[in-house]
Amino acid sequence: MTVVLASETPADADDLSVWPASTAPLPDGDLAVGGVSLADVAARFDTPAHVLDEGEVRSRCRAYRAVFPDADVLYAAKAFLSRTMVRWIGEEGLGLDVCSAGELELAVTSGFPPDRIVLHGNAKSPHDIGTALRLGVGRIVIDSPSEIARLAAAVGPHGRQKVMVRVVPGVSAGGHEKIRTGTDGQKFGLSLTDGTAQHAIARLLTQPQLPLVGLHCHIGSQITAVKPYVAALRRMVGLMARIRDTHGLVLPELDMGGGHGIAYRPGEPALDLTALARGLRTELAASCAAAALPVPRLILEPGRAVAGPAGVALYRVLAVKTTGDRVFVAVDGGMSDNPRPALYGVRYAPRLVGRHSTAGTRTATVVGRHCEAGDILAADVGLPGDIRPGDLLAVPAAGAYQLSMASGYNLVGRPPVVAVDGGTARLLVRRETLDDLRGRDVGE
Ligand code: LLP
Repeated sequence: MTVVLASETPADADDLSVWPASTAPLPDGDLAVGGVSLADVAARFDTPAHVLDEGEVRSRCRAYRAVFPDADVLYAAKAFLSRTMVRWIGEEGLGLDVCSAGELELAVTSGFPPDRIVLHGNAKSPHDIGTALRLGVGRIVIDSPSEIARLAAAVGPHGRQKVMVRVVPGVSAGGHEKIRTGTDGQKFGLSLTDGTAQHAIARLLTQPQLPLVGLHCHIGSQITAVKPYVAALRRMVGLMARIRDTHGLVLPELDMGGGHGIAYRPGEPALDLTALARGLRTELAASCAAAALPVPRLILEPGRAVAGPAGVALYRVLAVKTTGDRVFVAVDGGMSDNPRPALYGVRYAPRLVGRHSTAGTRTATVVGRHCEAGDILAADVGLPGDIRPGDLLAVPAAGAYQLSMASGYNLVGRPPVVAVDGGTARLLVRRETLDDLRGRDVGE
């Protein structure tokens, strides 16, 4: 049976806590983000569309720099990248973490200084490595023993490439099993526990053309507690001390990766950056003092926490139907522009925009338009009881790992990205059209 709670107004109608800071209610149930009406964005750019609040991206970069004034903050490009995003990141003084020739090439051809870029990847292709060396990337993070010989050969006896080693510190954290990378038994990094990391480091030190400048770890993603970072940092400093004792090498850099969690729905926790900074700084000072090590330069790689809260996804309702005891609200996007609910069981908080409703809340499941029963964007959310085809739904916290993970499923075409700021909307990435899709299809 449909659950209709006529006495309630939509639960979080006034709660804009997971929306960009610029978000403001407009008359007629509309919302402005970056001073631009979401209904106007939908009318001008059509739906589905992604809105990115430039001011929110920039202020998040600034918050990182303010909270970590002595650290290098690298934006993790995999969360979302476009040429304009590259420019904003550069202007705000952040570096970049990339994990493919594609991300790297886009960044450098958009004017980003290659020496402020770190290349990651558990399986770097010859093309990735060739591009990194050609463009002069700042650091390459070694992720497997076999990569050492491959990279040394690519660099050549007279070349030089700074490297780091990705260590698995044995600390488990992260919002979902698929994004926990801090312990053994998953594909990333070199184990501290079984000595593979130490072995790789010893091997690297026989390769003078690959100077080891530091250690890296990334324990997981969507982490909302400081404690696992502190525990990982302590182990990483322990390894740095052992490297000094064994090889007489004092490493100048320690990269603690990203993983900083955000709230997707009102009331959910987010990682407290000030507490993280305090925790890391205190532990770094204490562990280094205990080991008589100079304090290394700290590096961080947030992706989600920079881009996620700055994004809003806009969809048009195409169909509303009741099946059994469930109400399905089907929209014009879905798992091809946001695979995250299907992959990680993430819950979002869509809301009606562009129309004021006085109807009570009813529980509904927002689904996409794709040919799969698992194409669910938001299960069991409160929406106005009179939700109907033609309505506009907006989903906050949509800026990270949605478009960057978008697919070509059902040849729907990927949505555009529209930047909003100071009352102006401009297109950053245009909608993918049938011509784009046809252009790649070169058979008869
Ligand atoms: N550094 C490294 C080496 C990483 O592998 C990642 C993310 C980051 C930094 C940035 O992590 P962030 O601060 O954004 O959590 N697709 C998943 C997330 C996968 C994260 C992969 N690595 C999701 O949608 O939740």
